[in-house]
Amino acid sequence: MRTVDCDVLVIGSGLAGLLTAHHLSLHADVLVATKREAGESNTRYAQGGIACAIAPDDSVESHIEDTLAAGAGLCRPEVVRAIAAAGPARIRELESLGIRFERREGSGEEYDLGREGGHSRRRVLHAGDITGEEMIHVLLDVVGRKPRVSIRPHWMAIDLVTTGWLKRPGTNRCVGAYFLDRRTGEILAVRAGWTVLATGGVGKVYLYTTNPDVATGDGIALGWRVGLPVRNMEFIQFHPTCLYHPDAKSFLISEAVRGEGARLLNGAGEAFAVRYDPRGELAPRDIVARAIDHEMKTRGDPCVWLDITHKPADFLMRRFPNIYARCLKLGIDMARDRIPVVPAAHYCCGGLEASVDGRTALPNLFAVGEVACTGLHGANRLASNSLLEAVVCARNTAEAIVAEMERGRPEPVPIPDWAVGDAVPSDEAVVVEHNWNEVRICMWDYVGIVRTNKRLERALRRIRNLRLEIRQYYKQYLVTADVLELRNIAAVAELIVRCAMLRRESRGLHYSLDYPWAPSDRPGEDTVLLDPPGGPVSPPLPGWA
Ligand code: SIN
Repeated sequence: MRTVDCDVLVIGSGLAGLLTAHHLSLHADVLVATKREAGESNTRYAQGGIACAIAPDDSVESHIEDTLAAGAGLCRPEVVRAIAAAGPARIRELESLGIRFERREGSGEEYDLGREGGHSRRRVLHAGDITGEEMIHVLLDVVGRKPRVSIRPHWMAIDLVTTGWLKRPGTNRCVGAYFLDRRTGEILAVRAGWTVLATGGVGKVYLYTTNPDVATGDGIALGWRVGLPVRNMEFIQFHPTCLYHPDAKSFLISEAVRGEGARLLNGAGEAFAVRYDPRGELAPRDIVARAIDHEMKTRGDPCVWLDITHKPADFLMRRFPNIYARCLKLGIDMARDRIPVVPAAHYCCGGLEASVDGRTALPNLFAVGEVACTGLHGANRLASNSLLEAVVCARNTAEAIVAEMERGRPEPVPIPDWAVGDAVPSDEAVVVEHNWNEVRICMWDYVGIVRTNKRLERALRRIRNLRLEIRQYYKQYLVTADVLELRNIAAVAELIVRCAMLRRESRGLHYSLDYPWAPSDRPGEDTVLLDPPGGPVSPPLPGWA
């Protein structure tokens, strides 16, 4: 088996991974492993933009207040403050790399700021409606020119390697990971002083999602398997407005469209959002998604409609060129037609417990971006706060690793060959396809926007059975990327269900008909799962206790 050495291994090539690699590039040999093409990530599809208190009439205090309000009592205030306050400097840094955020026409240097749900003012910097694409494009170019960074596309992580697993004496720490090269089928090891998980989100755990195919929760599953605490997985954010069209898979209609005045209409043509919250279409996402779900279920409508036909076509084409063109291709002219939309799984507010400098409970392992639960989002992420979190935490993570590096590099340890055992090539790929669909349908039906104890119990039974089957399949057959992803989505699905079962209240994104309230006499508490296969790593991360 081939072993590749580097100082820092970054797994994932979205905003968090590429920026971490960029910040490290002067100090270390960095290998960025990514399971598809470089840059294919949730970031790439981010439309709305990046929230930051940068306007003269805005303030960090106001951004903090809105974030805490959306987070429904579960944000960590010191984390919210650290991330919101670092925003303006990080935005300037992104611009110095070449990322262009839109300015208001004829206003000189003033940013054209978008408005999204839960924000008390316009606060979202954007590059048209393809902010994520612009960021990835620029960062791939920047990182691609760094001599000390190499990007390895089609390398899919199988498992992390720790000294505990290798049964070596001393403090348990991460020393790298095994990978499958999807194109050749080769299994190899990357041995690294430091490993950074930047694997993004979990949307594919659900049947309907705004996320691309890569969002299979790999990093959360990898971290959990080596004993990292996983937090708040019940808080899955459903984006209220995913395009409902048979030919459009996972296409988001940005919240910024509602920010520009779009109304939500039910099948009778009634605007219904204000019946659920005085902020109407711009209430936080949990409220809007639940309102849509309720309208669809009670009326039996397959979707609701977004209406922005009161805006002139030239404004819509200029402000939303990507959404306009995509809808038009499908026969929907958003200047004249209502857009059919449904809620879909969008963002995971939980994840591997991590600090704002990416530290996890396992030495030499860091987590940054959507894979991490830093405490910024609490029970519900404020729109467009996630790109800000990735940008701030990527830089902090790189600084923390450089500081550790200056204190000395860890002793490299040999990584044993990948044990194939009696595994043979699979002749039952249909099982993978079947189980893949079953996990996603089960999660959509029983662990969606509205939950009950009964549905969660049913989901847990099914997911556990599926995991047993998947484990057997995994042992019997040579690994493929499809099996690895299936193994990960099933593990993440179970984590979501178990966190949801622990929360005996409705709060933020977790809404249960059995507990339709949040007790007002006690503050929110995180849910945390600490019983991975090999037992938890210890000691736990300071500051999270
Ligand atoms: C959107 O454009 O609506 C998505 C923004 C986000 O998820 O923060």
